[in-house]
Amino acid sequence: MIPDPKPRKQPTPRILPLSRDVAITGTGSHVPERVLTNADLETMVNTSDEWIITRTGIRERRIAGESEFTSHMAEAAALRALENASLSAEDLDLIIVATVTPDTLVPGTACIVQGRIGAKRAAAFDLSAACSGFLYALETGRQFVASHKYSNVLVIGADKLSFLMNWSDRNTCVLFGDGAGAAILQPAVGKHGILSSFLESNGHLNGILQVPGGGCAIPITAANAEDNPMTVQMNGRETFRHAVNAMVHACIMALDACGLKAHELACVIPHQANIRIIEAIADRLDLPPDKFFINLERFGNTSAAAVPIALDEANRTGRIKPGDKILMVAFGGGLTYAATVVEW
Ligand code: ACO
Repeated sequence: MIPDPKPRKQPTPRILPLSRDVAITGTGSHVPERVLTNADLETMVNTSDEWIITRTGIRERRIAGESEFTSHMAEAAALRALENASLSAEDLDLIIVATVTPDTLVPGTACIVQGRIGAKRAAAFDLSAACSGFLYALETGRQFVASHKYSNVLVIGADKLSFLMNWSDRNTCVLFGDGAGAAILQPAVGKHGILSSFLESNGHLNGILQVPGGGCAIPITAANAEDNPMTVQMNGRETFRHAVNAMVHACIMALDACGLKAHELACVIPHQANIRIIEAIADRLDLPPDKFFINLERFGNTSAAAVPIALDEANRTGRIKPGDKILMVAFGGGLTYAATVVEW
């Protein structure tokens, strides 16, 4: 007779849910001190304060000094976000820096920031998605926290776009500025947190907004340096058109994913490229313009830093309050576009 098998030890029941909610628990930002006004630009290229304000809404932007790198702005924003979240750098598990203007190709800017702030335990890497970079990085960081891999993630959007400017091209040099913004991601306590996010890209249209040189495809050489290949080259009208369509699409997809209607939003924090792009999005979503948080008149388009700088200002000024449903939306070269809905 076959003996009864020995009773098996029951496996330890799984106590962790597969995924958990994630919240933004702190924000920070930093911009350089030097202000470049429209009047300053009038002395540099054939433009006018009136043209820049009516076509873009921008009045001034901040420009980093020669020895003020993307990592310095990122570090300052990171320290403010850590303080805002009451978190120490040593507690960080992961640092992601979204940037298209890294200090160096190797090491990544995230590693430079990690070393400076003393985040000894953290993994660190950079992510490149142009002006949508912060929202791409936010979703990447969210996945690590949601899956229980990490509990304290620092996400930074930082760019020194002045480094990629052709200062004699009036089509682009009036639009951009430098800065950094940061957010801390942690497991959500209670109801609040990130409700949904949407990321999409359209590589077929990469030619309408690019920095063609400086990579291995077109290295900078003595022969091509005068053609400024390592500067932003943009078809403004096409970029405008696709920016509006893509951001409206991203907003609708992110709202649908969490079952919200646009009118339930307390605040929209859009990429700060052009006031007319923001007005067009407000119109298409049938939202009053005052739902949109706008600071582009002071900073211009700071690329990956634009959304997190605006988020930090909205947070610190009380424009967004606990329980508010907010939507962040961005668009950038690639083309990349993204939207994130948060219950604050
Ligand atoms: N000052 C004066 N005139 C100018 C300037 C300037 N700074 N720049 C362009 N112009 C001229 C043009 O040469 C053109 O002259 P022309 O008619 O004699 O040829 C005229 O103004 C109109 O040009 P448009 O390109 O039609 O002007 P538009 O109203 O489209 O505004 C702008 C241009 C502001 C660039 C707009 O198209 C725009 O904002 N596009 C989106 C840009 C954007 O968001 N880029 C960032 C994307 S995010 C990222 O990843 C970096």
